[in-house]
Amino acid sequence: MAEVKVYEDAIDKGLEGIVACTTKISSIQGNTLTYRGYTIEDLAANSTFEEVVFLLWNDRLPNKSELETLKKDLNTNMKLSGETVSLMKALPAKKAIPMDFLRTVVSSLSMTDADVADNSEPANMRKALRLTGQICSIVAGFDRIRNGQPLVEPKSGQGLGWNFVYMLTGKEPDAELAKNFDTCLVLHADHEINCSAFSARVTTSSLSDIHSAVTSAIGTLKGPLHGGANEQVLRMLQKIGDLEACEEFITQALADKAKVMGIGHRVYKDGDPRAKILRQMSDKLTAKVGKHVLYEMSAKIDDIMQEKKGLMPNVDFYSATVYHSMGFPTDIFTPIFAVSRIAGWCAHIMEQYPNNRIYRPRGKYAGKTGQKFTPLASR
Ligand code: COA
Repeated sequence: MAEVKVYEDAIDKGLEGIVACTTKISSIQGNTLTYRGYTIEDLAANSTFEEVVFLLWNDRLPNKSELETLKKDLNTNMKLSGETVSLMKALPAKKAIPMDFLRTVVSSLSMTDADVADNSEPANMRKALRLTGQICSIVAGFDRIRNGQPLVEPKSGQGLGWNFVYMLTGKEPDAELAKNFDTCLVLHADHEINCSAFSARVTTSSLSDIHSAVTSAIGTLKGPLHGGANEQVLRMLQKIGDLEACEEFITQALADKAKVMGIGHRVYKDGDPRAKILRQMSDKLTAKVGKHVLYEMSAKIDDIMQEKKGLMPNVDFYSATVYHSMGFPTDIFTPIFAVSRIAGWCAHIMEQYPNNRIYRPRGKYAGKTGQKFTPLASR
């Protein structure tokens, strides 16, 4: 009989430092983040979101015609089916937590997907394309439905970021807004074995399907220790109210052992490179909309946290004021994270299948032993 390996003393709460798989998608070394070998700074400055999607899924940059095809396919898939629109309209959108709405609608998409029973690589690539287009429209459509507004169809010839703003607001974004938002999508597209990508990989490892894995990932992204932090950052800034109140608020939060949202990271100890790019964007965009104090407060909290705890901001810290300056409702900041991160999730799911082994860790038992069953009548 084969021996069962048990590492009783090797418990690592939160799996810190555990290497759970090999991946060629993205990498964090020190404070350098790369997607398929390209630094995030290079991609943020030079790439569009669609180029990043192609890169993550194909391990190389697209040529001109491949990029055009991808843009066209994404655009086609942004048009939601009648069944999906009906479901969205039937759900209690006004009451719903946006991530719950997104999770439910995404889960339902498998039921109308032509490739539902096919987990082959080409079918998964088609489903990844569909999901990326659909998630963009579901998030934008959710906000319109809850506000009693008609849905807006995507415009052909425009990218996913441009169309997200257009489908959300009903207005064509100016070039600067479209470019800045596209950069945000590039920055959020993937991040090595983060909590939601891991969750997607765990679901995939049972040889379940891509819709199930993405649904798991959305549920995981929702939490405030992961993607849910961006929304909480803005709420914290609004609660603090002004620059002078930051010091006292943070001192009190630390005394209460509360987590300051958007600060700290499991892997980056010398700073998150995405936060540096978003910080500059936040500085500019908050000034443009006459809310520079929000940036100043963020910078102050950033300084205090570095000084008092040696902790630095992560991607969610400055993206909060960036999205606020772009005019997005606070409670859809986390769904907007999903509009981009779907690219990374799909890459991880497609990487998991061909090199799979089911994820099945052990737990060190710390409960009661030797219990004897008491019949119901005697309890
Ligand atoms: N505010 C205050 N203290 C924090 C903190 C924060 N945001 N993040 C970490 N710390 C402190 C912890 O209290 C702990 O201190 P201690 O050693 O004195 O107990 C220490 O730093 C280590 O934190 P820990 O929670 O063990 O780190 P982790 O690797 O398990 O968690 C995060 C990483 C990102 C989940 C954590 O930093 C956090 O909760 N940040 C806020 C939520 C957030 O922004 N999430 C988005 C991540 S991209």
